[in-house]
Amino acid sequence: MSKIKDDVKKQIEKRRTFAIISHPDAGKTTLTEKFLLYGGAINQAGSVKGKATSKHAVSDWMEIEKERGISVTSSVLQFNYGGYCINILDTPGHQDFSEDTYRTLMAADSAVMVIDASKGVEAQTRKLFKVCTMRHIPIFTFINKMDREAMDTFELLDDIENELGIATCPVNWPIGSGKEFRGVYDRATKSVELFSDTRKGTTQGEVQIVPIDDPSLNGLISEEQKAKLEEEIELQDGAGAELDQEMVSKGELSPVFFGSALTNFGVETFLKHFLKMTTSPLPRKSDKGEIDPMEEGDFSAFVFKIQANMNKAHRDRIAFMRICSGEFEAGMDVFHMQGGKKVRLSQPQQMMASERHMVDKAYGGDIIGVFDPGIFSIGDTLTTSSDKFSYEGIPTFAPEHFARVRQVDTMKRKQFIKGINQIAQEGAIQIFQEFNTGMEEIIVGVVGVLQFDVLKYRLENEYNVDIRLENLPYEYIRWIDNPQDFDLAKLSGTSDMKKVKDLKDRPLLLFVNEWSIRMTQERNDGLVLTEFAR
Ligand code: G4P
Repeated sequence: MSKIKDDVKKQIEKRRTFAIISHPDAGKTTLTEKFLLYGGAINQAGSVKGKATSKHAVSDWMEIEKERGISVTSSVLQFNYGGYCINILDTPGHQDFSEDTYRTLMAADSAVMVIDASKGVEAQTRKLFKVCTMRHIPIFTFINKMDREAMDTFELLDDIENELGIATCPVNWPIGSGKEFRGVYDRATKSVELFSDTRKGTTQGEVQIVPIDDPSLNGLISEEQKAKLEEEIELQDGAGAELDQEMVSKGELSPVFFGSALTNFGVETFLKHFLKMTTSPLPRKSDKGEIDPMEEGDFSAFVFKIQANMNKAHRDRIAFMRICSGEFEAGMDVFHMQGGKKVRLSQPQQMMASERHMVDKAYGGDIIGVFDPGIFSIGDTLTTSSDKFSYEGIPTFAPEHFARVRQVDTMKRKQFIKGINQIAQEGAIQIFQEFNTGMEEIIVGVVGVLQFDVLKYRLENEYNVDIRLENLPYEYIRWIDNPQDFDLAKLSGTSDMKKVKDLKDRPLLLFVNEWSIRMTQERNDGLVLTEFAR
């Protein structure tokens, strides 16, 4: 391993790579857009996503996304702000999201959680949050839409703590909401940032900051609001957690901010605090111990997403990788650990707000997409280090929806098998077979139901194969961790349980509910069931 050069280190130090997570409609796109606006990456709000309108976002690569105006795959946006080079990993917020969404979080160093102030924690946030906590990355909360009627502030904080099991520390505190929204009180500086609506999409909005004891506040916020604020702050100071940077870094405490992305209010304040408190690229685990981007001089990266046929005319496949250490240069040769040979990384691309473009150089913390001739798999490591190592793999997330796939034209068996296997290789779907048969009966498992449509669409368009999908009632999957101890044919489960095997011939069970899992475990002494394949 070689020592890092100073100029490369400087580049990596200013990188901030994070994902934004939220439930659909909480305001993730709006907030992202405002970030880009501050970074000067776009000139006008509305260019990131034009829902089902003529404006199409970068991430809408596939036809299916365009038709529905939703974002199926995740992309990356890079921009500069305040001396930082920021990479935002976009996670599709649609409720039918896929495993890709989870995997994207594996490439982030921290997460921003956007919550709708009138709704609190919602289903999707909960799911994504689980992956963040699994990785112990810092999580920052932006409570959005304060310009609308909001839940009580304490209730919102309790909701986060109870639902997600993370301590919270409000950095600022809202004064009123909806029509009564007057701004936020900054707890550290004891001053009020007065609400102003600069939704026109410019960064020039005047931010007026007034100390809490300044008489000029009278009239701007009512007596009643001021009294309420003082009471709430006193309560919070007495009961709440301190803003402990170490706990924030470990993902045990989430700093909370209030604002309104639509009107631009609180966004820049959030961005400034966030950039100071979040982390530069973190060390990653490998089979040779942790690789620290601030020490390691050689280039290394891992693949976290593979996107096929981004350009239908060229049938290209792009492997997205997160650079973990060193410097990337276009056309460089790197060692592909899993393939066991040197490869040239050609056509490197980076995603910007409105287009993908070629990159000459990139650094630890950045995400690049490279042309994939079909050799990469999710989790693969690439490095120029002579002391070769592999990064820890990316877990396979348990599918929650299952369907039986039937081919309409059985003559096209070969294309069908090829297509479905390739799509499975990209990690968009998981394939299972009936326990006692071969490929005749195929069951597909997905994390989000939209992937079924994507599968159907892609088999039709890319492989010329029509399929019919028959939904199955299963929602839970468990691999049998000790198959040597059990004769699967004789395993006694519940009547609605299904025995299948995965592509590696590992036996597993599909269940309709958690009760069935418990029953099966009770009926088979010593049976070890796991949610992830090992
Ligand atoms: P998402 O990416 O998390 O799904 O949410 P998105 O930003 O698309 O926002 C969802 C809706 O909420 C949008 O309205 C958006 O304008 C609105 N919104 C976002 N932030 C705020 C806020 O701070 N205050 C208020 N009042 N609304 C906010 P829409 O009508 O669904 O879409 P559009 O027609 O405005 O694009």
